[in-house]
Amino acid sequence: MPDPLSDHANLAAALDLAASEAKVYLAGIDDALVRPRTSGPSQDMDLPDEGIGSLAALAELIESADESSTRSAGPRFFHFVMGGGTPAALGADWLASTLDQNAYNWISSPFASRLEQVSVEWLKDLFGLPGEWSGVITTGATMANFASLAAARRWWGLQQGVDIEADGFSGLPPMTILSSGYIHVSALKAIAMLGLGRDRVRRLSRDGAGRIDLDALASVLRERNQEPVVIVANAGDVNTGDFDPLADILAIARRHSAWVHVDGAFGLFAALSPLTRHLVEGLEHADSVAVDGHKWLNVPYDSGYAFVRDPSYLAGAFGASASYLGRDARPAFGNLGPEMSRRARSLAVWATLRAYGRSGIRAMVERHVRLAQRVGEQVDAAPDLERLAEVRLNVVCFRFRPPGFPEDRLDDLNRRIGEMVLEDGRVYFGTTEYDGKVAFRPAIVNWRTREGDVDLIVTTVRELGARAIARAGPGLQAKPATEAAGEPEAPAEVAKPQH
Ligand SMILES: Cc1ncc(COP(=O)(O)O)c(C=O)c1O
Repeated sequence: MPDPLSDHANLAAALDLAASEAKVYLAGIDDALVRPRTSGPSQDMDLPDEGIGSLAALAELIESADESSTRSAGPRFFHFVMGGGTPAALGADWLASTLDQNAYNWISSPFASRLEQVSVEWLKDLFGLPGEWSGVITTGATMANFASLAAARRWWGLQQGVDIEADGFSGLPPMTILSSGYIHVSALKAIAMLGLGRDRVRRLSRDGAGRIDLDALASVLRERNQEPVVIVANAGDVNTGDFDPLADILAIARRHSAWVHVDGAFGLFAALSPLTRHLVEGLEHADSVAVDGHKWLNVPYDSGYAFVRDPSYLAGAFGASASYLGRDARPAFGNLGPEMSRRARSLAVWATLRAYGRSGIRAMVERHVRLAQRVGEQVDAAPDLERLAEVRLNVVCFRFRPPGFPEDRLDDLNRRIGEMVLEDGRVYFGTTEYDGKVAFRPAIVNWRTREGDVDLIVTTVRELGARAIARAGPGLQAKPATEAAGEPEAPAEVAKPQH
């Protein structure tokens, strides 16, 4: 009967197995189909009473991972906004599991605490945020939005004489939260988790969907007089990569009692390049900023960062103490964010910044911006494609629109092509709805991605688009979804990107 203690002798073999299989997996990822080969492992749901031992269990896991992993760490995954893991970050992430540090405080791990301290300083420098801000590593931008907005909530309560963390809302009125049509669902989720009411957010954009309407913002703030208000500005809309005008928002907000939070999950990386820095102009005057690491920094899941101008608010929102946890004058990072026991996520951040430096990360960001422009130009040159938004950063929003095709059937056609792209697997992105239209929005953030990879975006959409029309003919819209979807395609031959 294998028990962990009796397995001691297999540790080195288990690590060797994982390492050798990881090398094989990653060696093939540049050219592999992105979609999983199966929909998921057919594992038994009953807890086994008798174990099979570590090496056998790992072998089983490796087999099903090979069949059913999405190759999202590879160069042709353009869905959502998902990076991969640079060699330095991946190696460091393995070390984080090996060392298994608890990054709660300086007693549980001085090593992880120091690396988090250094990483937070480096990240502030990378994004051009002032050195006196505080920061903490979270599990992603959702929790970075949560931590930042928890700090905002503390500020808002104190403005009205209430310590919310100690006393709850204590009869406070609902919070006024203003944003634009670009507010991300994760910020709404954070607002919901904070008990502030996601449906209370007012989207001040001209059509309810786009950039913030500055006149409306000024007028709402005037109406609210000196009532404290929280504004969520968006640096990088998921559909288009567009930005709210931060400097203008901040100029208006400064005349009132307002906290300006910036959700820059991926868009904050615009700050790294002189080509795109104007998109986040004024950033350093915000009150809090959320950004992701597992997107454009290309550290493995999960990693995000919250930065707050006044260090007392994160500490006030998340402070906790118990005598057994010890005392130390240095800030415990587990008391600056939601989790107490925490993975040492700083190792991957530190390693990737140490390995590539500011200029290496900037080169990657600029390459992705150029690649997005390249795709935008290809879309513009194709007679059957229509670009729906400016390419401001790393997202290209477009749809298939063959000449003469009935307007009222374009959404169904593009939705169908979106499904076919995922089934095909050469590239991977689905559809969104933008400006009332079903559209594609490939996002380029993976460190491995090159020209040959992004060139497959337009080629694949045009090829599958032509096939969808030929298949469905005039009945495309009328057919029920299952019928219109037809038989699954035979796996497409993987067109080798021209590297
Ligand atoms: C603008 C924006 N904010 C927040 C998030 C949430 O990030 P995460 O999934 O890492 O929590 C995303 C994810 O795509 C995003 O694009």
